[in-house]
Amino acid sequence: MNAKKSIIILGIESSCDETSASVVKDCKVLTNLIANQKIHELYGGVVPELASRAHQKNIVPVVDRALKEAGIRKEDLSAIAFTRGPGLIGSLLVGASFAKAMALALDIPLVEVNHMQAHVLAHFAEENNGIGYKSIKNNPISLHPSFPFLCLTVSGGHTQIVLAKDHLDMEVIGETIDDAAGETFDKAAKILGLPYPGGPLINKYAQEGNPNAFKFAEPNIPELNFSFSGLKTSILYFVRSLTPPLSEGEGGDSRIPHLCASIQHTIIKILMDKLITASKQTGIKEVAVAGGVSANSELRNELISTGKKKGWNTYVPAFEYCTDNAAMIAIAGHYKYLKGEFAAQNIGASARYKF
Ligand code: KG4
Ligand code: ZN
Repeated sequence: MNAKKSIIILGIESSCDETSASVVKDCKVLTNLIANQKIHELYGGVVPELASRAHQKNIVPVVDRALKEAGIRKEDLSAIAFTRGPGLIGSLLVGASFAKAMALALDIPLVEVNHMQAHVLAHFAEENNGIGYKSIKNNPISLHPSFPFLCLTVSGGHTQIVLAKDHLDMEVIGETIDDAAGETFDKAAKILGLPYPGGPLINKYAQEGNPNAFKFAEPNIPELNFSFSGLKTSILYFVRSLTPPLSEGEGGDSRIPHLCASIQHTIIKILMDKLITASKQTGIKEVAVAGGVSANSELRNELISTGKKKGWNTYVPAFEYCTDNAAMIAIAGHYKYLKGEFAAQNIGASARYKF
């Protein structure tokens, strides 16, 4: 009797400032390598032109190592999945062109992936050691969220509440009308004189601060949508009005931890309030978070404690699957491969790709 043939996907992610390649076998992550681009720290944010040049330099060695460390030969691959969008067009084009060329050369299917859908599908990544899904969860029965579930997807460029009906059937039921939550963390950090990317630093300093020390404007936006531009402005004016003014430099002012804790607390309250409303409106109690901001310790704790109070099953990805990574692209590729959803060689990248 023939054993079922494994599906081995090479995932490629290049939508912003991380060049990542991953090999995933039957949803088990064999490798998930990320080349970070340090250069952007010098400029206080991602410089698109520099990002695409760095992807160009990194992509061959990252893919080569991802395959070697996985012990997989190019010829063993079932398909190549790449991020089609949304993201920075110059960065996306590097990954898309590479994936197209490699799929053509190997004569295997090419799979295009929506980056935001992939963040949600990161919940289906399994570790290779056979222990299954590595995540913090309060549901002892199910390893992964079961359908339908809600996912709060919070990243540098997007803030969405997604209703996931199936792996590839998802609907955005709420989103930001202006700035994203991650962008708000990063801009607030900049206002406080902290280096880029500011989200993790705000998280770090907040641990020593009082979340109720300062009050900032909270938006009043209808339905399940978000807005962060008013909060950003309110942080800017508040910090400008401080006497004495904030002293420059990372950690150089004793008010920084309290400011970080209060800003973080406000952003998370805005996110959680809408997620609670979404669960009430839909009646869905399977609730997940995804995207770079889901690496935030207060958001993770808040989701789990709210989940306990509300009787939700909550799902938080392992850290390495929160921020941008190619394993999530390969997982999305796996499900598209199963359905035979392949891309043609004339496919382009799409900076504003929606699903
Ligand atoms: O998903 P991601 O890696 O890239 C995009 O698709 O945008 O998200 C990056 C965002 C950045 O804004 C970064 O500051 C934020 O995620 N982030 C955090 C934390 N770690 C990353 N924000 C708050 N707390 C963190 N621990
Ligand atoms: Zn992302």
